[in-house]
Amino acid sequence: MGNIKFQNALSRTPQMTPPIWFMRQAGRYHKHYQALRAKHSFIELCKNAELAAEVAMGPIQDFDFDVAILFSDLLFPLEAMGMGLTYDPSPKLGWNLTDENLKNLRSPDEAFDGVLFQREAVRRTRERLPQDKSLIGFVGGPWTLFTYAIETEHKGGLKDSKRMLRLFEPFCKKLVPLLKKNIQLQLDAGAETVMIFDTSAGELEPYLYLDRIVPQLEAMVSEFPKRVGYYIKGGTSAHLRHRLFQEGTPLAGLGYDHRFDIRQVLRGEKFGFVQGNFDQALLFLSPDEFKMEAERYLMNLRALRPEERAGWVSGLGHGVLPATPEENVRQFVRLTREILK
Ligand code: CP3
Repeated sequence: MGNIKFQNALSRTPQMTPPIWFMRQAGRYHKHYQALRAKHSFIELCKNAELAAEVAMGPIQDFDFDVAILFSDLLFPLEAMGMGLTYDPSPKLGWNLTDENLKNLRSPDEAFDGVLFQREAVRRTRERLPQDKSLIGFVGGPWTLFTYAIETEHKGGLKDSKRMLRLFEPFCKKLVPLLKKNIQLQLDAGAETVMIFDTSAGELEPYLYLDRIVPQLEAMVSEFPKRVGYYIKGGTSAHLRHRLFQEGTPLAGLGYDHRFDIRQVLRGEKFGFVQGNFDQALLFLSPDEFKMEAERYLMNLRALRPEERAGWVSGLGHGVLPATPEENVRQFVRLTREILK
């Protein structure tokens, strides 16, 4: 069961045509999502397994992606630890983390109940997916979740998170065991791979990242060899200069944003999958201009022999943005398969 092309990418078996999945492929740009969202809150769409499966199926049915992704959000572990959570549509916690209230966070065992709803969501999505599609799950990276726990307004710079860095390790003492249970739950329920999305980690200076964040990531993935992938937004090759991101790592693969030269990455990475990295903002071009840019990008990849681009998963540098024209998403899937065949 699962998608052969995605499984080839995981095992780095050379192939002409890569598998395709987009981060936030289910979301506000998509009419299917908008119709469901008109009737249900975002939280309901995540917590009702039937609805979560329906949302995740939308982009598979409409655009024929090879891989479906669990429809959920990475902030639910914070809610599970007792922090409260609403969306409007940007997330708001009931309280932010401080030295004084750190002790009020629920223990991983107590908090686990709060993410259990994902078990049924993964199961239902797997049941509804065609046999030849893969399913992946996801959790947030500990630094990214820390920034959401700390910042009252989540904007660039993350001044408060950096000022409160002393709370990161004590926070991780509770958070990381919960995330491990969360990963295990998604794998047990039928996710083939679980992604760690570390959207805020690229905001850190590389040595700080290597010293403080990577040890927490290592603790998270070492128990799940080759089952967990990692994405860092805005990271550089300096951030990835660690054994965790090299041959012999327990990681299943990495997602790269559009700042990376994907050909150089493919030639250099010797383990697991390489997901990325078309610039999602280019999906806003007019259909004709978009076609030109997508063709240029894909032809550049076609210039590599299949052995040189083993592991590649065709995707975006980050997530599909709200109001992206559906037509260009459809076109990108079609062009990937047409040019790389
Ligand atoms: O990829 C998928 O199709 C699965 C769904 C998914 C969502 N969020 C759905 C969502 C995934 C993988 C995420 C991850 C996520 N959530 C990240 C990491 C990846 C990234 O996008 O950088 C982050 C930082 C969050 C936290 C979060 N949740 C934010 C910042 C927001 C949106 C705020 C805004 O105004 O844009 C959400 C809400 C959210 N998550 C929506 C969706 C479809 C929109 C909610 C709505 O319909 O109102």
